[in-house]
Amino acid sequence: MAGVEHDKPVIRCRSVVKRFGAQTVLRGFDLDVMPGETMVIMGGSGSGKSTSLRMMIGSIPPTEGSIELLGRDICRMDEDELNETRKQFGILFQSGALFNSMTVGENVALPLHEHTDLDPEIIDIQVKIKLELVGLREHADKYPAQISGGMKKRAGLARALALDPKILFYDEPSAGLDPVTSAQIDQLIIALSKQLGVTSVVVTHEMDSAFTIADRMAMIDHGRILKVESRAWFEHLRDEPDELAKTRDEDVRLIRQFLRGDADGPITARQSSEAYGEALFGPAPDRGLLPTPSLEPTRR
Ligand SMILES: Nc1ncnc2c1ncn2[C@@H]1O[C@H](COP(=O)(O)OP(=O)(O)O)[C@@H](O)[C@H]1O
Ligand SMILES: [Mg+2]
Repeated sequence: MAGVEHDKPVIRCRSVVKRFGAQTVLRGFDLDVMPGETMVIMGGSGSGKSTSLRMMIGSIPPTEGSIELLGRDICRMDEDELNETRKQFGILFQSGALFNSMTVGENVALPLHEHTDLDPEIIDIQVKIKLELVGLREHADKYPAQISGGMKKRAGLARALALDPKILFYDEPSAGLDPVTSAQIDQLIIALSKQLGVTSVVVTHEMDSAFTIADRMAMIDHGRILKVESRAWFEHLRDEPDELAKTRDEDVRLIRQFLRGDADGPITARQSSEAYGEALFGPAPDRGLLPTPSLEPTRR
């Protein structure tokens, strides 16, 4: 793809720490996302997934460490440079975040009006192409209130694609959708990645979705990345026999519990252990992290 060097990471996070006041949300986060791959960041609710995504798109700064996007440190950019960089990626937020007063087509056209000098006729064609990609060509004139949740997600995705981004960021793309619709969104994510060659970063706690779309996966737990590996590695861990799994270290057993949605394991043990918080995070303010349940139901 033009502008992307194939051996260099598209996103490079190094020693990224994020604190909100006294609460440390990310504790030294390293991650490379390579050109054209789909990287799934998975973890329980409150583990720091959305925060890491928001730092990668430059909407909040890290407290420490560096984040490079397309070879440039996003923390050192001024507002103009940041806006220029933002044109190179698309974001699909949890809600789809469409403007309700605009039709689907107008929503998709918006970034083109804001960021380009294209003629209205060209913009119309671009909008049709993007809506066709997500299967919404027939629905351009509808308002968000007139379409289903899945269609809103598709429309949000068409808008994220408007400027032909090199990177697509998704935050919980299947949140709030029924299983069939979320499976369709998964297929769309795969199709876009293949057809457009975009690099994708997907944050999710839905394991079915993660295993369907990922090339590689990163498991994050309480602000620590425990593992970044191929999808096959995680599949292998999920499916390995209990006898073998017992011999693994705690991080690996924790990942396996999360992947399988097991009721028993390190996550459960930790939730019931007061001492754990003292040992790991110290007393007082940081303890706010602990009560957050790390295990959520998946579609399995
Ligand atoms: N703007 C903020 N101010 C204070 N705390 C925040 C803010 N954003 C997130 N947090 C806290 O950071 C932790 C991780 O949040 P988040 O990244 O949204 O988790 P996830 O997306 O994995 O569910 C949570 O404890 C959350 O309350
Ligand atoms: Mg989140």
